[in-house]
Amino acid sequence: MAGRTMRAVQYSRYGGGAASLEHVEIPVPSPKKDEVLLKVEAVAINPVDWKIQNGVMRPILPSKFPFAPGTDVAGEIVEVGPGVDGFNPGDKVVSGLSLGKAGGFAEFAAAPANTTVQRPPEVAAAEAACLPIAAVTALQALKHIATKFDGTGEAANVLVTAASGGVGTYAVQLAKLANLHVTATCGGRNIDLVKSLGADEVLDYKTPEGNSLKSPSGRKYDLVVHCTTGIAWSSFEPNLAAHGKVIHLTPGAGSIVQYAFKMLTFSKKKLVPLLASVNREDLKFLVDLVKEGKLRTVVDSRYELSKAEEAWAKSMEGHATGKIILEV
Ligand SMILES: NC(=O)c1ccc[n+]([C@@H]2O[C@H](COP(=O)([O-])OP(=O)(O)OC[C@H]3O[C@@H](n4cnc5c(N)ncnc54)[C@H](OP(=O)(O)O)[C@@H]3O)[C@@H](O)[C@H]2O)c1
Repeated sequence: MAGRTMRAVQYSRYGGGAASLEHVEIPVPSPKKDEVLLKVEAVAINPVDWKIQNGVMRPILPSKFPFAPGTDVAGEIVEVGPGVDGFNPGDKVVSGLSLGKAGGFAEFAAAPANTTVQRPPEVAAAEAACLPIAAVTALQALKHIATKFDGTGEAANVLVTAASGGVGTYAVQLAKLANLHVTATCGGRNIDLVKSLGADEVLDYKTPEGNSLKSPSGRKYDLVVHCTTGIAWSSFEPNLAAHGKVIHLTPGAGSIVQYAFKMLTFSKKKLVPLLASVNREDLKFLVDLVKEGKLRTVVDSRYELSKAEEAWAKSMEGHATGKIILEV
């Protein structure tokens, strides 16, 4: 592909939201030794994409400007780096690109082979592209309590906050596969959807009951997959079982202090910050569940790459139901 150019969407500075995304024509990347080059079919958006643009990891990420966002891609391999085994041109795959390099908002993307997985025909590109960050995060959060996702695991009680979002919709389904009792929070408009994903009881987060996080059946939570912000430890604490853990996906400075305090005092109830990391084993496990019809993706909306700004703005609003996808 040397010398060829492609369409891509990138930004050149921190901040600016959707308005600072630029449509450009840039060279097709060359795959490094341990990379494969994909013709991108779909790329899913995650809140971390626009949080990086907002400067949440400044000055480490992005590694340089201009920066094409988009880590979660599905497509077809067109070129294989010289050190890569097990992949060939023509393979349909899904990949998690590195947060620092990203590059998914483009017609072609270079993906590390070690975070790339074959995609069987039963798993559509758009659905596969939603798995790397959102579903892997849900899985890794639940692994704090569940080891078996075939229905033979030990019963326990889990609370999933923001169960209507990208991570939450997967967390509810994976928790049910793991034989957990699921209490979930979401907005009133999504209660039926979250129940249809398997949640045993659903609380509207805008009501006093939802705000209290109390299980309607009186259960205490062994684990919380906490997918939103703005909930104090004092709201979780009375609802936790003796060794209950809150897995916090969006920890701020206050939660880190709380975490350190719980560690130092040997508290049995714990707040655990999680930074999920996409790996081939987890991604393959999830692709197989989709193939077997055991896990589905809730799609909020699909946009063409030419409409990337609209998709970006939609994600930034924070009210997606499931995943937002760009099709290339
Ligand atoms: N640490 C990690 O490794 C990691 C990985 C992935 C994601 N994350 C973080 O986890 C968070 C969730 O990610 P996501 O992709 O699921 O986000 P998302 O898809 O944008 O979540 C949107 C959903 O959250 C719901 N929601 C918002 N506030 C809520 C509340 N207080 N209670 C209940 N539901 C609420 C919204 O419902 P309404 O529209 O009804 O308000 C909407 O359906 C983000 O902050 C993301 O950055 C962290």
